[in-house]
Amino acid sequence: MKINFSLNNENIVVDTSPDTALSAILRENGIFSAKKGCDKGFCGACTVLLNNRPVPSCIVPVAMVRNSSVITLEYFCNTEDFKDIQAGFKSAGVELCGYCNAGKVFEAYDIIYKIEHPNRNYIAKQVSYFPCNCTETETLVNGIILAANNRRKRLEKLSQGKVNGKK
Ligand code: FES
Repeated sequence: MKINFSLNNENIVVDTSPDTALSAILRENGIFSAKKGCDKGFCGACTVLLNNRPVPSCIVPVAMVRNSSVITLEYFCNTEDFKDIQAGFKSAGVELCGYCNAGKVFEAYDIIYKIEHPNRNYIAKQVSYFPCNCTETETLVNGIILAANNRRKRLEKLSQGKVNGKK
């Protein structure tokens, strides 16, 4: 079956069984940031953004992404949102071990994209869905709060620039 979707902002068509896991299709297309982990949707190692929401690509049948947008870390790491998260993580001392990168970064993005001022309890609950052995929850929560601050300040500056630019 032919299935078309956008992968990192480029349209692609794959010819495969509709129930093939998205993670397998990504690897066939040279995308390796979505790691092979539990293959059951628990560990978050294979996380990608599907229509701007994080999903474990190992349990998403490729037929589900037809006409959708899939963004992986390869693309996301060139965005301003990633820079906000990276700086927040660095300031808080969040480790990225390679295995958990995609889960942590996209979970952080989902939180700070949806909520300007996320609270600690909410963040701790969200990040608990993906177990991580390389960073304490407290540290990760700090990193996401700092990332949210970075994003807010950047967007405020942007909107002030637009207002000033109109004068
Ligand atoms: Fe997909 Fe673990 S490999 S969630």
